[in-house]
Amino acid sequence: MFKISIASSNEEASETAFEIIRSIVTENPQPVLGLATGSSPVGLYQKMIEAYKKGLSYRSCITFNLDEYVGIDKNHEQSYYTFMHENLFNGIDIPEEQIHIPCGSNGNEDQACREYEEEISRYTVDVQVLGIGSDGHIAFNEPGTPFDSVTHIMPLTEQTRKDNARFFGGNIDLVPKTAITQGLATIMRAKKIILIATGNNKAQAVYDMISGPVTVDCPASILQRHPDVTVILDQEAASKLK
Ligand code: F6R
Repeated sequence: MFKISIASSNEEASETAFEIIRSIVTENPQPVLGLATGSSPVGLYQKMIEAYKKGLSYRSCITFNLDEYVGIDKNHEQSYYTFMHENLFNGIDIPEEQIHIPCGSNGNEDQACREYEEEISRYTVDVQVLGIGSDGHIAFNEPGTPFDSVTHIMPLTEQTRKDNARFFGGNIDLVPKTAITQGLATIMRAKKIILIATGNNKAQAVYDMISGPVTVDCPASILQRHPDVTVILDQEAASKLK
């Protein structure tokens, strides 16, 4: 079930998302946060850091990220490990051993998938933060991914690699061709989901997710079957909704 919130600015969108995270962090003895990379959650992470500076502690949180590129080292400047440390973890107080990010560079991806799924299965994610790809992907579950998928290796679509080339100096050839990602079934186990989408290039995917059929052609449409999804949009991303 979707709760849709249309924000008048990025600032307002980040604030709406942050208030949900704040209540989970303050109300649970051991909050389990599911985190995403990409541009969509960056404002939320800034709010989390600002709140930490004003006294909010994340010391008891456990985190699980959605995905990681395969074939680049975790210390590569564009790895999701680096992204998360630069945009969030270096600015707050979650102990490193409570942070989980899939490993795409140990040379045995099948084992990495199995171990990640086993680890996340030991917890219930209290809130999962998501963005959405312009092709309707969530995490790196590209169109065609089965709804019962768990952590797996995914070839990235041309569209996703084009969209992400902006992080690689605009050069699509530098964007990895595969990623390790939580599956759709993994994501659906989270108690609560917050999906943030802004900009015109997300409008069609947002429409398909909310108003289209539930189909693997739009992986995000599976969220229609989740009991608690807050979708935070700007006017542009909401522009195709009735
Ligand atoms: C990132 C992720 C992706 C992004 C999506 C949107 O961990 O799983 O699904 O959320 O590609 O990316 P942005 O926010 O950069 O538009």
